[in-house]
Amino acid sequence: MSTEDIRFEYIENFGCVEDDLLRALERETALTQIHPKMLSGCYQGHLLAMLIKMSKAKRVLEIGTYAGYSAICMARALPADGQLVTIEINDEIEWLSSKYFAKAGLQDRIVPIVGDATEVIPTLDGQFDLIFIDGDKTEYISYFEASLQKLAPDGLIVADNVIWYDKIFAETASNDHFTHGIMAFNEYISKREDVEKLILPVRDGLMLIRRR
Ligand SMILES: C[S@@+](CC[C@H](N)C(=O)[O-])C[C@H]1O[C@@H](n2cnc3c(N)ncnc32)[C@H](O)[C@@H]1O
Repeated sequence: MSTEDIRFEYIENFGCVEDDLLRALERETALTQIHPKMLSGCYQGHLLAMLIKMSKAKRVLEIGTYAGYSAICMARALPADGQLVTIEINDEIEWLSSKYFAKAGLQDRIVPIVGDATEVIPTLDGQFDLIFIDGDKTEYISYFEASLQKLAPDGLIVADNVIWYDKIFAETASNDHFTHGIMAFNEYISKREDVEKLILPVRDGLMLIRRR
């Protein structure tokens, strides 16, 4: 085990509690899905929940539901009258997320939408206090542009995987579209003077963005 793994295991075990429901969701995702590692996991779920509580967010938008792990973590952090809208393009995984939203008793707080986030976001009513971008890595700039239109004045955008398994630091094959997508997004955001940004070097890199 590398020092980094030991460090992360310690951090994850210390204060990061995964209940039976999330453990079961993680297990069922591993048994039924090809890329089970895509879900946020305990540490990131906890971090997203913390951000929601600290910012007192009431309405949250998620791009990329997948199995629903991060959606459950975030919805649980909302006040009773809060709402989480989560968009997923792949209708073949909806059975899994909706099963666990129901098991968690969160059907009233979570609004799942099947569709392409770039098309769906412009049709959504109202504003969001926190927007979690975790969809297709080649589409981050479009998600960001669409999200900014729906972000509350003091709202926060959180973009996942901005370090993309450290691939952004190495020479990148021209057909590695995900790595190029993330690199283009990071560069694009760095040049935007109308927003403040900060990369948290946790897990696969989380970028926090808010309006200046
Ligand atoms: C990394 S997974 C999301 C993981 C989830 N947020 C979590 O942390 O548990 C990315 C998901 O985004 C979905 N996706 C990709 N492109 C999308 C789009 N344009 N609109 C909505 N969802 C999209 C994928 O099908 C996939 O399920």
